[in-house]
Order: sequence, then structure tokens, then C-alpha cells
Amino acid sequence: MKYAKLSLCSEYRVGDVDERIYGSFIEHLGRAVYGGIYEPGHPAADENGFRTDVSALIRELNVPVVRYPGGNFVSGYNWEDGIGPVGQRPRRMELAWGTTESNAFGTDEFMRWCKTAGTQPMMAVNLGTRGADAARNLVEYCNHPGGTYWSDLRRKYGAAEPYKVELWCLGNEMDGPWQMGHKNAAEYGALANETAKLMKWTDPSIKTILCGSSSLNMKTFGEWETTALDLAYDNVDFLSMHQYHGNSDDYLENFLAKGVETDAFIKSVIATLDYVQGKRHSKKRIDISFDEWNVWYHSHGAEFEKWSEAPHILEDVYNFADALVVGTMLNAILRRADRVRIACLAQLVNVIAPIMTENGGKAWRQTIFWPFFYASKYGRGSSLLQVAETSKYDTRWYTDVPDVDTAAVLSEDGETLTVFAVNRDLKDEITLETKLLDFPGFTPCKWVALEGCAPDAVNTAEHEAVRPIGKAPGTVEGGVYRETLAPMSWNMLLLKKH
Ligand code: AHR
Repeated sequence: MKYAKLSLCSEYRVGDVDERIYGSFIEHLGRAVYGGIYEPGHPAADENGFRTDVSALIRELNVPVVRYPGGNFVSGYNWEDGIGPVGQRPRRMELAWGTTESNAFGTDEFMRWCKTAGTQPMMAVNLGTRGADAARNLVEYCNHPGGTYWSDLRRKYGAAEPYKVELWCLGNEMDGPWQMGHKNAAEYGALANETAKLMKWTDPSIKTILCGSSSLNMKTFGEWETTALDLAYDNVDFLSMHQYHGNSDDYLENFLAKGVETDAFIKSVIATLDYVQGKRHSKKRIDISFDEWNVWYHSHGAEFEKWSEAPHILEDVYNFADALVVGTMLNAILRRADRVRIACLAQLVNVIAPIMTENGGKAWRQTIFWPFFYASKYGRGSSLLQVAETSKYDTRWYTDVPDVDTAAVLSEDGETLTVFAVNRDLKDEITLETKLLDFPGFTPCKWVALEGCAPDAVNTAEHEAVRPIGKAPGTVEGGVYRETLAPMSWNMLLLKKH
């Protein structure tokens, strides 16, 4: 008999949800920038060439921060190539992805675009082919009011006021041999420390993010974090995590279980952070920036013309099953909202993204748009501790996978309780029993679900096969709220105080 039971109490909280967990990512990669957010000449482009149809969808997602400009791209990027008169900017061989970069879009365009998309910038600096000098100059360019070489150049190029960028990533996936300028943990930790030091001397208000492991499966995982963190501890504020799930072996039960690896990864990184803090007898706590996460596998091995501009690469077309896995990853992040303070869905447009576009044509919502949309809209407030008891299943890779995966959030005003629940079971409905220990006057008022689709159903420009449906919510009886969740479904249950 399959079952799922949840007990919630308004006083028992994991912590406040930092809204920056609903961040995302735009890299100079494929059609994320060119043909994605920026397409001069498109019927919906504004005077800056920004696609307003795309910005409108991003505004729907309510993304508080967007990481830029990479990703692997940043490790070979000369940020100075992307400022000044567009006609004079150099065209470059972009070695991370094997394309040609026109540099028509750069730092100033990104800052302007953030305003149209209703978001804040989160910048990454190049610690692959460059280092502390280029990084501190970029901070000066972006954040210093004026009266110095780089800040006056920004003013000359049209931005009288500083951009006040708060979040800065110290390189990208520097543990990976695929990275330009890959380093070992000791080399990276020393460089990140000196770079962060100079960046903070340039603007003491910034926060810096040290690269953690680029996946849980890296051979250096754990050692990398410990070594790099110990060297850079005093000058960094967050440690990054990256994780992508896939279903290349077409093993659905296993794929749906992959959120358990997200839990395991977060747990291990917290343990490492606390170990280094303890070892150093430090009062300073470092939290997590989960600045790349998603499902990514459909586009693996896709071919494109080398050195072309803005080719169709990493354009995963997401299906219904992917949306459920994204739902479980969001739940895992919410369950550790106390330590995961920033997270970026990678990425935002066209490249492994919730939003797709046609060059010159439409923009539309992929399947994974929906769980992110609802979490971003209703998953703000305090994450609640949950005593969860559910039947479990095993796959060839994982044991004790909860049949129903949940997270619960109480809104800041204490008036709305939201439960996110994914039924992973392929065939069976499962009743979720939520025991409300102290929510007097709370009544179910909204139930939204993604259900009843084939696992491989996808959305296209013409047809939205996977979209949320509204269901009639039940009632609370004897302090217990019961809803029967369809097999393979993502659900959001909302209760309001009356
Ligand atoms: O998001 C796509 C790529 O995945 C990023 O460039 C890199 O950081 C990661 O490996």
C-alpha cells in the first residue's frame, strides 16, 4: 500500500526562503543571448534590440538574479571586448563552445537588459585565462561612481550611475579539465582569494562566490571544496554547486528518483562548509550558491557548424518527465532554504531553458517553465520543517526513494501555506495526508497540477501539451488535509487563512 503523510507546524521552520533561489543564468552560448534575449530586427525587439516577448515571459517567472556571462564561456572572455562602440568590438574565436563571438552584446547591454527583464545582475569573472587584474577592473567599471579610468569609461559609454552589482562568481567550474585555465584546488583557492581580496578592496559591499565542484561525481569532490575554501575563506561569502540530471539510459523510475542526489549533494556540501568553519574556529558561516541546476541530456551529441555564430546548441526540448524532476530539485532546494541562499536555473532562454524562441518568430514556455513559475510565485516566505513519512521504492541506482516528494512554505504574512508535491509513482495514485498541527482557519483554496501527460510529451511553438490544470481542492477534516495525487504528477496545494 502506497502512502504519504506530512506533519506541519507553523512554528517549526527550516528558515526564510531567500528569493534569490529563483535566479537563473544567461551565458554567451548558442542562442541564449543572440536570438534569445537579444535580436535586433525581431518584430518584438525594443530600441535596444531586446526581445520584449522574451522579457515578458521572464517577468512571469519573476527571476530576482541572472548570472552572466558564463559558464564555460567566461573562462576565456575578455570583458573589455564587450564595451564601447559596437562597430569597433572584436570578433573572437570562442573556445569553450567552438563558436564565433561578435561581442555585439556585452556588460552594458546586459545591465540595460536586466532592467527590462525585472532582474538583478550576478556577474562572473574570468579566472581561467585571466585573473585578479581584469576582475578588479571590471568591478571598478561596474560599481565605482566615477573619477577613475574604468568608471569614467562606463560613464562615457552611457551609464552615469554605477550598476551596483552585488554578487560576483570567482570563475566557473575551475575543477573541470574541460575548463579553459583549469586549475587544481590549491592553485584555484590561492587565485580566488587574491582576486576576491582586490575586488572587495575596489568595492567592499560586494559578495563573492567560490567555485565548488562542478558535479557530485567529480573525483575531487570534497577535497576540492575543503582546500579551496580554506585558502579563500576570509574573502568569500558563498560556495557554488552545479548539478544536471539526465535520462540518457531511458530508465524512467530512476530518472524520477534523481532528486535524491540533489539532497545528497546539498547535504555533503553543507557538511564540508561546516567542517571548514569548525576547523578554522571561525564565526563566519558560508552558504551555498547553487548557481547551475537543471535537467540536461536531450541535446547531448547534437552537431553544429564549428565557428558559426549563435548556433542551435544545447537546445533541450523538455518533456513532461523533465518537469517532474525539476519539481523535485526545487523541493530539495526549498528543504534546505536555510543554507541554499542563491540558486540559478541553468539556463533561461533557448540553452537548456524554460523559454524557447524561434529566430524572427515566436517565444514559448517549455514544460519545465511551470514548476519553476509556481515555486517562484508561491514558494516565498519561510520553508517549513516537515515530518514526512512516505512509502519508498528502489531502482538499480537508488534505494529508499520517497514515492512522494514534498516541500512546504508559509508566506511571509503567515496567511498562505503552500505544499509542493511530486508523485513519482508511474502507475498509482497516492493520497497525501497533511496533518496541520497549528493552522487554525486555514482552508484549501487552490490545487494546480501537471498530470495525465505521456512522459515524453513536449511543448512546441504551436502547441502547449504540458500545462497546469486547476483542480477542485478538498477540505480539512479533523486537522488533516487529504488530496489524492495522480500517478506521475507535480502538484501545488494552497491553503489560505480565513
Ligand atoms: O550551462 C551549461 C554549461 O554547463 C556551463 O557553461 C558550464 O558551467 C556547465 O558545465
